[in-house]
Amino acid sequence: EKSGYQHFMLKEIFEQPKTVFDCLRGRLYADEGKIILSGIEQYLPEITQAERIIIIACGTSWHAGLAAEYFIEETCRIPVEVEYASEFRYRNPIVKKGDVIIAISQSGETADTLVAIEKAKEQGALILGIVNVVGSSIARISHAGAYTHAGPEIGVASTKAFTAQLAVLYLTAFKIAQHRQNISEEKYLMLCKELEAVPEKTAQILQLNEYIETIARKYKDAVSCLFLGRGYNFPIALEGALKLKEISYIHAEGYPAAEMKHGPIALVDEKLPVIFIATKDQYHEKVISNMQEIKARKGKIIAIATEGDTITPALADDVIFVPEADEIISPILNVIPLQLLAYHTGVAKDLDVDKPRNLAKSVTVE
Ligand code: F6R
Repeated sequence: EKSGYQHFMLKEIFEQPKTVFDCLRGRLYADEGKIILSGIEQYLPEITQAERIIIIACGTSWHAGLAAEYFIEETCRIPVEVEYASEFRYRNPIVKKGDVIIAISQSGETADTLVAIEKAKEQGALILGIVNVVGSSIARISHAGAYTHAGPEIGVASTKAFTAQLAVLYLTAFKIAQHRQNISEEKYLMLCKELEAVPEKTAQILQLNEYIETIARKYKDAVSCLFLGRGYNFPIALEGALKLKEISYIHAEGYPAAEMKHGPIALVDEKLPVIFIATKDQYHEKVISNMQEIKARKGKIIAIATEGDTITPALADDVIFVPEADEIISPILNVIPLQLLAYHTGVAKDLDVDKPRNLAKSVTVE
């Protein structure tokens, strides 16, 4: 069952080159610049003209939604709101005809997400489901949608379902953007090619597995950790923190790097590991200066950086280099080392990484 891997979580992390490939197969034709999403094709005019998009999800799926907010707004120029299903359903939300709701769920059974979209459906919104489990409740109640095709996810912490959710969200965003003629043909083609390259680059990152294990061992006794990122990668900082919490029981928080000085920087001392997502993007210089602010206060820094970039030992204690990618695509790659970091920290602490305490794979009660 675990195909030689010690845990399902590791197996599922390593499946990602294939699961993302499977998710894109028959949907993305990068050379021709064609995206086919048969599940939503019928509703494309409605989606393209949406006044706003509301994304509803919980947990890791919510993080996929938050990442999508950044790239949907950038490429489609449609306002996006990202809602925790549990909050949305109880606050008499304002939903109108013309709104498009995207529900994201691995299991397709999360009670809060299900009830939230039932409500929105009654109020006239179009519901798209991005779901992994075929025939699940959320898939059935949605008007249309796209499956993530990641295969069964056994590990309680979501890994391969998350990257497959992102893959579907990219396809959806680029398809809408092209229809609305919001991005140049050149940029559209570039993004399609970058997306097509994700499985290969994911495989390259997985080769860092043993190196990341050594980093995890070094920091396994930390009491608390911070994960920082900006822009497209801020949601990945949140996801990195959630993975570490779940799997290693180390307290962790994700923040936009620039928010540090508004409070969390008070936590920084020589015992605090701070994980920076510092790949090359429009924020790079700013992230580097955020790193200097942490170093000046003696925090330990683990950086995710772009291959070829020079990050000196004075700036970061440990650096994980990932292949170069466009900033829009970078979140789906940058999350991989964070999944491995969480996994190896949990294993180093001898914890049950496939079944962390107090957690259930699918949350069918509110
Ligand atoms: C975290 C995790 C949870 C789920 C959340 C939503 O690793 O697995 O946060 O993401 O419970 O579950 P789904 O996606 O099944 O609706």
